[in-house]
Amino acid sequence: MPNKKIYLDYAATTPVDKEVLGEMLPYFSEKFGNAMSIHSFGQEALQAVDSARGKIADFFGCAPTEIVFTSGATESNNLTVKGVLKSYYSKAENRGKKPHIITSEFEHHCILDSCKAVEKDGLADVSYIKPGKDGVVKVSEIAKAIRPNTVLISIMYVNNEIGTVQPIGKIAKLVKKTNKNKMENEFKTVFHTDATQAVNYFDCDVERLGVDLLSMSAHKVYGPKGIGMLYVRKGTAIRKIQDGGDQEYKMRAGTHNVTGIVGFGKAIEILKKNMPDNTKKIQDLRDYLIGKVLGEIPNARLNGSKIRRSPNNANFSFRDIEGEGLLLSLDMEGIACSTGSACSSGALSPSHVLLSIGLKAEQAHGSLRMTLGKYTTKNEIDLAVKKLKIVAERLRKISGSVLADYYSKK
Ligand SMILES: Cc1ncc(COP(=O)(O)O)c(C=O)c1O
Repeated sequence: MPNKKIYLDYAATTPVDKEVLGEMLPYFSEKFGNAMSIHSFGQEALQAVDSARGKIADFFGCAPTEIVFTSGATESNNLTVKGVLKSYYSKAENRGKKPHIITSEFEHHCILDSCKAVEKDGLADVSYIKPGKDGVVKVSEIAKAIRPNTVLISIMYVNNEIGTVQPIGKIAKLVKKTNKNKMENEFKTVFHTDATQAVNYFDCDVERLGVDLLSMSAHKVYGPKGIGMLYVRKGTAIRKIQDGGDQEYKMRAGTHNVTGIVGFGKAIEILKKNMPDNTKKIQDLRDYLIGKVLGEIPNARLNGSKIRRSPNNANFSFRDIEGEGLLLSLDMEGIACSTGSACSSGALSPSHVLLSIGLKAEQAHGSLRMTLGKYTTKNEIDLAVKKLKIVAERLRKISGSVLADYYSKK
């Protein structure tokens, strides 16, 4: 393994910013109070939680009381799907009337699996919208899928594999229009976006977006792992799914992760300050990377729209190369990337995201996601592409003809 490793997997997680860590450290030791305790230790912790909540609310343009801290986007997304259904079924007139949910085929597994779970339990019917070949969900497809009993629409802001940006504002307008035509006592459609991959680069002001619910995780924005949030617009029909204490305005029981919350607040403060500069720098480097890979490696393609794309995301398919092999070979060269193919029960399953945008199984198997961050340098990109070229050539020599033969018989 080379001494200097290159990290190009910022969509998976980011390192904690040193300033964030500095802010967190006292809350592990001398300022260790439980934010729900009424003595001075507790009040000190509560003040830190409130201060972080204020910074986060300021970033998302909402009231501090609309921020519900969770353990991360997975929990926020589970709370969304299950909590909205819980609210629906809490009304006597809805018992025995199965509601409907709309989501897309290429959401993160925590939304897809939550939807599949409630479907399996007979609690809801779910429509999975197919995105276009460019990796963008069409608003007209959502409009077609809406039913009178649609209680929830959940569409991600930025796709985590291919980085494509979804028309959240337009979908919000559609939902508002639909709700306007509903009777006063009818259950209104709730609109949720999973903004986990968007927060670093895109406007997440909830008023401008027009969403009712928004999920994210702090570890994607140079904050700590195990802390995230669900923005809950005041008056949204959602109920808690976890019982216990009265924390988080009775929406999420459990002792506050004070250190995590403090770090989350600091990370958001830093993000806000540096967003324009970082976005430009990262996008320039990303475009440089895409140009080099497509220009220097034969039979490479960029997956997803080049324009409606997160500034840090490049996702390639390489003909006759299998993604997992590519990933492992690059790792041995000290380059950390990611692939959409997942190894389950010993068999490689192609990326559900790439299949959803119409790629063939062999293309979906050969994908490589390279995601940049605020610490990425041009030097790192040059070195990564140099290694990628060598590895791709080697893998094609070893397995190219075998794979081509295998897929031609399928
Ligand atoms: C779009 C999206 N949603 C949800 C998650 C889950 O986040 P966490 O694992 O922090 O709960 C991720 C993580 O990669 C993501 O990219």
